[in-house]
Amino acid sequence: MKKIDGFSKLKKEEKIDWLISNFYDGDTSVKSELTSYWHRDSEVQSLFDEFSENTITNYYMPLGIAPNFLINDQIYALPMAIEESSVVAAMSKTGKYWLSRGGFKAEVIDTIKIGQVHFIFDGHVDQLKKDFPSIKEYLLENCAFHSENMRKRGGGVLDIELVDLRYREPNYFQLKVSFETCDSMGANYINTILEELAQLIKDYISVEKYGSQPSVIMSIVSNYTPDCIARAWVECPIEDLGNINGVAAQDFAEKFKMAIRVAEVDPYRATTHNKGIYNGVDAIIIATGNDFRAVEACGHTYASKDGSYSSLTHCSIDNGMFKFWIDLPLAVGTVGGLTQLHPLVQRNMQLLGHPNARQLMKIAAVAGLAQNFAAVKALTTVGIQKGHMKMHLFNILKHLNATDKERDYALSYFKDKVVSFTSVREMLADLRSEKP
Ligand code: MEV
Repeated sequence: MKKIDGFSKLKKEEKIDWLISNFYDGDTSVKSELTSYWHRDSEVQSLFDEFSENTITNYYMPLGIAPNFLINDQIYALPMAIEESSVVAAMSKTGKYWLSRGGFKAEVIDTIKIGQVHFIFDGHVDQLKKDFPSIKEYLLENCAFHSENMRKRGGGVLDIELVDLRYREPNYFQLKVSFETCDSMGANYINTILEELAQLIKDYISVEKYGSQPSVIMSIVSNYTPDCIARAWVECPIEDLGNINGVAAQDFAEKFKMAIRVAEVDPYRATTHNKGIYNGVDAIIIATGNDFRAVEACGHTYASKDGSYSSLTHCSIDNGMFKFWIDLPLAVGTVGGLTQLHPLVQRNMQLLGHPNARQLMKIAAVAGLAQNFAAVKALTTVGIQKGHMKMHLFNILKHLNATDKERDYALSYFKDKVVSFTSVREMLADLRSEKP
């Protein structure tokens, strides 16, 4: 009976009951567990319920803070929603490290978003191309009413291009539309305009004049925004880097630069390297109610823009100056969507000083750069396991129900030993068997 019709129509408790009977062997403790994560204020809970469909409870994730981030001469405490241990600790260390070395700088390079109407056309292409300037004028004029609010805020449709993709697929064309969406991420606005444009182009292109009508395949925002970029960087004289984890500044700088080069030339390393960058970026993006899937998808495509998947960060050493930077596509919003609905997102926005979209782009780019600095710094000096060891140890100890006393003992015992599930279990067994 695991199949069901009308699941969405059941009340929340009925959904849980159905799940318990069909998937949890009738174990009613599951119901108490699931409901224990409901918010105590029913109004807040119904807000969460309505973010998505078929909600049965809330899925918790830690919200941590990385303080001491000096970005363009202003100090931030960064909110980070992330479950992976060590990420927030590494970020915090990096914030503090650069605080005394001039901090982070960041700028927005551009904020253009893209949408596409994909269509098939097998009529008179030369005529279509020749007439496109006046077709474009018609399209821009007639979709303008959807942009009234956006134009008041300084945005709207920037341009419409006819893209001939017949060299990839017979009869395949696009309207490639560029937008400025100001402080909103803009996907809804863009999709509305695109659907209007799809109708308009079908109306305009008549069989009589053009030999055929366009057949629209789909109209949708593109999450690839190579012209919506924030740049963040740190720089200082090499000697100011200091001695890092026992490695002298000059040696560290050179090894660090080579590690970035490895990620630039090798896609296997670049994938892990960029994953680390998104440890920082996603955490901020989630904490500010933005779409981390869109941001990540875009970043990975951008990382392949020169023909092979590569590092999103870069490093140079010139005349004794160490410079480390990132160019990151970031289509984010600070109005609309979850940003004004989720209570914690609002608090996080307040914590960041109510940034606009451009400011949030800079903050997220800094988070990515900082996370990458922390990871590569550890990797090229003491290795990654040292930093992870403590959290890893704590997780295993929790799993094995260790007491506080056992935890303290384990911490000093594993200072110079390799942490693994077996080694911790054996240590605990020895310790416990020694008890009188
Ligand atoms: C782990 O989540 C991220 C790292 O693997 C990133 C990196 O290797 O640069 C540590």
